[in-house]
Amino acid sequence: MLKKRIVVLSGAGISAESGIKTFRDSGGLWEEYDIMEVATPEAWERNRDLVLEFYNQRRKQLYEVEPNDAHYALVELEKAFDVHIITQNVDDLHERAGSSQVMHLHGELKKVRSSVDESLIYDLDGWELKAGDKCEKGSQLRPHIVWFGEPVEMIPAAAELSGTADIYVIIGTSLNVYPAAGLVSYVLPGTPIYLIDPGEINVGYIPGVRFIKERAGTGTRQLVKELMGEV
Ligand code: APR
Repeated sequence: MLKKRIVVLSGAGISAESGIKTFRDSGGLWEEYDIMEVATPEAWERNRDLVLEFYNQRRKQLYEVEPNDAHYALVELEKAFDVHIITQNVDDLHERAGSSQVMHLHGELKKVRSSVDESLIYDLDGWELKAGDKCEKGSQLRPHIVWFGEPVEMIPAAAELSGTADIYVIIGTSLNVYPAAGLVSYVLPGTPIYLIDPGEINVGYIPGVRFIKERAGTGTRQLVKELMGEV
């Protein structure tokens, strides 16, 4: 029998219980750092060392953390459903937990790419990208991250995928950043939509959403149990 398709849109909140800071919560990364100074093409032109250091620290931390219950619950869901994850996260915790279909909207911390030819993408050995590390065309390597002001190349594929969902699940995102926050508008009318987040999320624009106001670990376990019980 053909499995029903579940599409998951995840954000920083799903990795919070692994010890990775979110961006906009109190104590989040964008309180500590100025977005414009570390996550824009202009910052890369103006202060390359600071940008490299910011992502080196994020990457270094990634080697010190583990996937959590929420990531593992989504892997379990694959036993009964065709699960596709669209993540805004640049960590690799979904993959390390064992999820088999993961699309990264905003890039991946463990990859770097050429600053003159964006099709030249490499896995970085270790956590540190240094000034002077070059691609095969001789240009400086940059983090493989979609910065503010850059196009999100994966959006058309993510929108199409969202339109094929039988069930849509949103976990741990403030839904503040477009175009990712707009993906839910591609979900077909009548599709069950769940949102798991402990915060105050404006869900007014998501018709019929069931808001599970829990942390990712608890909320995802609860929902997975419920969905698995139905098949
Ligand atoms: N479980 C689930 N959700 C949580 C938890 C938790 N334990 N802790 C916090 N959250 C929720 C917050 O309530 C908030 O809604 O995670 C969300 C985090 O929101 P943001 O920090 O805005 O992160 P995100 O939505 O992923 O940001 C989108 O912004 O700067 C960028 O490129 C970056 O991909 C990122 C994008």
